[in-house]
Amino acid sequence: MRLEGKSAIVTGAGNGIGRAIAMLFAQEGARVLVADIEDDAGSTVVDEIHQLGGEAIFKHTDISDEASAESAVQAAVAAFGTVDILINNAAVFVFGKVEDVTRDAWERVLSVNVMGPANCVKAVLPVMRANGGGAIVNLASVSSFIAQPEFIPYNSSKGAVLQLTRCLAMDLAPDNIRVNAVCPGTIYTRATSIHIDSLGLDHEDALVAFGQGAPMKRVGQPREVANGVLFLASDDASFITGEHLVIDGGATIG
Ligand SMILES: NC(=O)c1ccc[n+]([C@@H]2O[C@H](COP(=O)([O-])OP(=O)(O)OC[C@H]3O[C@@H](n4cnc5c(N)ncnc54)[C@H](O)[C@@H]3O)[C@@H](O)[C@H]2O)c1
Repeated sequence: MRLEGKSAIVTGAGNGIGRAIAMLFAQEGARVLVADIEDDAGSTVVDEIHQLGGEAIFKHTDISDEASAESAVQAAVAAFGTVDILINNAAVFVFGKVEDVTRDAWERVLSVNVMGPANCVKAVLPVMRANGGGAIVNLASVSSFIAQPEFIPYNSSKGAVLQLTRCLAMDLAPDNIRVNAVCPGTIYTRATSIHIDSLGLDHEDALVAFGQGAPMKRVGQPREVANGVLFLASDDASFITGEHLVIDGGATIG
């Protein structure tokens, strides 16, 4: 029970890695606000947490909208009394070559993946300050620091998430708010599944092929990312801030 007595907001918790984080946090004793733009997916995760005996609520949230991020924080405070942990997980996946990406697509990926976490941090700051501190974990990616073909918008946004993490860690250390990131490699989620479909590949073949890029010769599972997020969000990481934890089966060692 490493999060006993804590309350957490997990954005994008209706699916994939965010869902795994919400479930694990609830198992570890946290009260969890599942924030997602998809109501059915978010409500299903809350039901799953309740079935396991955990505490959770759903709040429809669009993190790219400052007012919506504020409403999510207010809902968490109303339900749980405070917010100790914010996990900035929600993101959209916009890929392509620079000449193919429209201005609208750029605005979407930057407003969700970069402004979204910034909106949520801004909204939660007064609560964490009043609380005497807190922990924030951002979902960056190996795409934050390596180049990948035709991934320009997504990788640019994830590069920004890593710098957002470092700069926030510096600015918020005096408030006893730690800010860290995890950088997953390829993890099998709906987003990965949609990407495989867009490439016209067979799923099993694609997962084997993607896994070959890592010394561990496989893709990761959402729970393996959630375990790293749990460590950084918990008091076990009490002297760690501005750091990023790579969770990629060794894909970016060399
Ligand atoms: N899957 C991977 O291989 C991988 C690798 C590295 C990093 N990541 C990062 O992990 C995080 C989760 O990825 P995933 O694969 O689980 O994605 P996913 O698409 O499976 O889930 C993302 C969730 O975010 C929600 N969401 C999207 N826009 C939103 C918005 N504006 N407001 C609130 N919620 C919104 C979606 O509804 C969805 O439930 C992302 O930040 C992603 O960049 C994923």
